[in-house]
Amino acid sequence: MQFSNIKWINNQPYSIDFNDIYFSTDDGLLETEYVFIEHNQLKQRFTSLKNTHFTIIETGFGAGLNFLAVTAHWLALAPVIAKLHYISIEKYPVKLADLQCAMHLLPQFSLVSSELISQYSNLKLGLNRFSLAAGRILLNLWVGDIATQLPQINDKADAWLLDGFAPAKNPEMWSTEVFSHMARLSKINTTFATFTSAGKVRRGLQAVGFEVKKHAGFGKKREMLSGVFGDVFGGLAK
Ligand SMILES: C[S@@+](CC[C@H](N)C(=O)[O-])C[C@H]1O[C@@H](n2cnc3c(N)ncnc32)[C@H](O)[C@@H]1O
Repeated sequence: MQFSNIKWINNQPYSIDFNDIYFSTDDGLLETEYVFIEHNQLKQRFTSLKNTHFTIIETGFGAGLNFLAVTAHWLALAPVIAKLHYISIEKYPVKLADLQCAMHLLPQFSLVSSELISQYSNLKLGLNRFSLAAGRILLNLWVGDIATQLPQINDKADAWLLDGFAPAKNPEMWSTEVFSHMARLSKINTTFATFTSAGKVRRGLQAVGFEVKKHAGFGKKREMLSGVFGDVFGGLAK
């Protein structure tokens, strides 16, 4: 297993391998709220949840910012008996020390982050399971390349968070194979959201059955995408 090479610049985790930032510590949380939480309507869906569980699949766990922001809303809004199943795929997990640094910068999430940190040191390739917040949150962290990990997942998503660095810098996270597996793991009304508006991503998701919409992007990004899985191919989604 290869850990990520992170350089900290002004309290911002920066990937040396991908020449890109994980998130901005100034506005990273606002971006997560805007792109991933708002455009998957997570707060409304948690509040009105009728099922006993809700499944999110994320491409790129990184330093866990999306995870922590989502779990805070889950604990505040979802029925106490329901379980959040958060599945995330990560090729280069951050080192424990980097995770601790990132989480130190986000003290509002310490309830869940301290539990995650205490279980994080035994990370291995493949599936790592974490039970957090008295079992209300189940994190399945698949460590390895998306091309080998995504095919092993069989849980249907209610929502996707596509967060694998910019497509131009990291095309492997936005391949046609990834989009096909997204279709396999989606059901009617499964949603997705992503910070990018790259044409390749829009067309790839449309080709496997997602209805895709463009929205104003966050900060300096002009546009972003979100959408819903439909029954375009009649019977693909169950
Ligand atoms: C922008 S960061 C994710 C940020 C994260 N969602 C957060 O909230 O902190 C993108 C992540 O994708 C991971 N990644 C890049 N290529 C990958 C691949 N081929 N398979 C799996 N993960 C990959 C990187 O290691 C990085 O951690």
